[in-house]
Amino acid sequence: MTIERSLVLVKPDGFARGLTGEVIRRIEAKGYTLAALGVFTPTVEQLQAHYAEHEGKPFFEPLVEFMSSGPVAGIVIEGDSCIRAFRVMAGATDPTEAAPGSIRGDLGREWNHNVTKNVVHGSDSVEAAQREIAIWFPDLA
Ligand code: RTP
Ligand code: MG
Repeated sequence: MTIERSLVLVKPDGFARGLTGEVIRRIEAKGYTLAALGVFTPTVEQLQAHYAEHEGKPFFEPLVEFMSSGPVAGIVIEGDSCIRAFRVMAGATDPTEAAPGSIRGDLGREWNHNVTKNVVHGSDSVEAAQREIAIWFPDLA
């Protein structure tokens, strides 16, 4: 058994639509626990660090702009294999392709043929989770 932590963000679209509670409901119903919870208005610097792996890609600047457009909820979740499990719960990056039953499949859709607004973020590896938790919740790292 591997107890992991993952950083989940309810992105500005999900936060503005009042979906934070629904995302937390799904996390808790699945059996994961919350290790930290907060509302942030992220700075561009924070987002550039968070998305450093995507720097230089065509969607990087629109992504940082969107993510700094309003408050987000940051959640550190904890549990056995929660990193992979939350990625499955979130569904495919593109909400149009995300399977029904997933967060993006049930709650997201494309806006102007653009997949930037896809409700949630979830860490994709143990290393990414540690790096991201240190950015959003330095006291936990
Ligand atoms: P996330 O990091 O947010 O959990 O999502 P992900 O792993 O499924 O997607 P990733 O490849 O890491 O991309 C990060 C976020 O950038 C936006 N994106 N836009 N082609 C595009 O326009 C495009 N591709 C990615 C999405 O907001 C994606 O979640
Ligand atoms: Mg990613």
